[in-house]
Amino acid sequence: MTIEESIQHLLSKREEAKLGGGTKRIEAQHKKGKLTARERIDLLLDEGSFEEYDMFVTHHSTEFGLDKQVFLTDGVITGHGTIDGRTVYVFSQDFTIFGGSLSETYARKICKIMDQAMKVGAPVIGINDSGGARIQEGVRSLAGYAEIFQRNIMASGVIPQISAVFGPCAGGAVYSPALTDFIMMSKQNSYMFVTGPKVAKTVTGEDISTEDLGGPDVHGKKSGVAHFIAEDEEEGLMLIRKLLTFLPQNNLEDPITTECTDPIDRKEDLLNEIIPNNANIPYDVKDVIYSVVDYGEFMEVQRNYAQNIITGFAKFNGSPVGIVANQPNFLAGVLDINASRKAARFVRFCDAFNIPIVTFVDVPGFLPGSAQEYGGIIIHGAKLLYAYGEATVPKVTITLRKSYGGAHDVMGSKQLRGDLNYAWPTAEIAVMGPKGAIEVLEGSYVAKLETEEEKAKYIAIKEEEYRDKFANPYQAAAYGYIDDVIEPRNTRFRIIRALRALASKKDVNPPKKHSNIPL
Ligand code: HXC
Repeated sequence: MTIEESIQHLLSKREEAKLGGGTKRIEAQHKKGKLTARERIDLLLDEGSFEEYDMFVTHHSTEFGLDKQVFLTDGVITGHGTIDGRTVYVFSQDFTIFGGSLSETYARKICKIMDQAMKVGAPVIGINDSGGARIQEGVRSLAGYAEIFQRNIMASGVIPQISAVFGPCAGGAVYSPALTDFIMMSKQNSYMFVTGPKVAKTVTGEDISTEDLGGPDVHGKKSGVAHFIAEDEEEGLMLIRKLLTFLPQNNLEDPITTECTDPIDRKEDLLNEIIPNNANIPYDVKDVIYSVVDYGEFMEVQRNYAQNIITGFAKFNGSPVGIVANQPNFLAGVLDINASRKAARFVRFCDAFNIPIVTFVDVPGFLPGSAQEYGGIIIHGAKLLYAYGEATVPKVTITLRKSYGGAHDVMGSKQLRGDLNYAWPTAEIAVMGPKGAIEVLEGSYVAKLETEEEKAKYIAIKEEEYRDKFANPYQAAAYGYIDDVIEPRNTRFRIIRALRALASKKDVNPPKKHSNIPL
């Protein structure tokens, strides 16, 4: 072969690799409304930044006639590129080759980029669209999955790992995304389950569709498995790009601070009026968040799951923070099992990646009742408590209104190493609300009163006394548990100043093999 011919040979091999499983299968992919593995990478990364590895990898199997079906890349596109100029590693499963099913060599390709991402200290983004284990390869495929899982585990808390699920993701294959930090699903063609509808029917008799078993609605609202649900793949990929703007490259770096033109001392008069006069009337805590963060931009995580607690990313004066907020608009902002799990995982993510945590508190307590107790609210509530107490990143807590009982302690309290704890004058920091407290303290006296009128009058007087004494921030402030009571409209400025002071904060936990968070 002349040099010219060898170069032509290379170029034609590249063309062949880029065709994946062939034009017919690409057409079929498009017909389903799906992009190809390569189109997804192109949209995700900065233009022209993708460097592909292992384009010429093929499987080495001979069983079931596989030796006659050999495709370059073997069904997964891997490599690195940039997002906003920062390096990321990517794999994108190619459904046009054996349905994107995972073989031994395919797994090796993914492991190669994961190993390199760990050495470099850069995020890994995996785009999933696969029929699962390549059936013809048997246990070698299962071993390949386990190799990936082990790397997901080692990378956890070291580099951000993000999964997009833009097609099938079934069986044990779901566990790689599950081990990563964030899962993005698309409203079309995206589903995840450990066992599919057919197996469910055979084993339990349950008749259920793919969509109802593991579609985006299920994982966005019911299970909480997915952190983001995009309208379509394009939006999903854009959201991943956006998500990365809040994250550092790895656990040894800080997130990037960008220029901010939103005035740091912007006063929001609306906040002075946002808390209703009646403590039982809800309001939307997201209005508080939007009005204090830079440009009102808030990237919510798990938006439709456990909506009684809000989690997400925003910036203050250009620096990323994680925000946790009780939502009075949903179940009165009560803490329950799902809210505790949701927020605990978020707090731990932020702590692992040096992202300060800003907490807005308006919580009436833990949700009472047998459903919660049988479900283990004791253990799940402890997760959130643990996550806050373990976190060493800067922690700024603003109590807006209610902060009652155990939930007060949990929500970034001073004693869980809260760095700066502010309260609005509307804050009520107490063991419980006035009604419950008076029932416990005065119940037996009230029972002895003769008329209902007398009882109501006595209770009203006592509740008022209680409210004056405890339903305010000043008892907590008198002990220094609240560092200052602030005027609501100054909240943005006070948070920015707090974060600025805390930027060089150092705090450590005692040496240990690992913690034993109540799982
Ligand atoms: C080999 C596979 C495959 C697989 C699909 N294909 N899944 N090849 N191993 N697991 C091939 C098909 O033969 C077909 O090849 C092409 O991919 C496209 O598949 P279709 O069935 O035509 O596509 P579609 O109708 O869209 O259905 C997609 C699907 C279905 C729902 C994913 O293919 C399916 O049910 N596949 C099997 C899923 C499965 O049970 N996997 C094992 C799960 S257990 P041609 O040549 O016709 O294009 C598992 C364990 C992991 O994954 C354990 C980890 C610990």
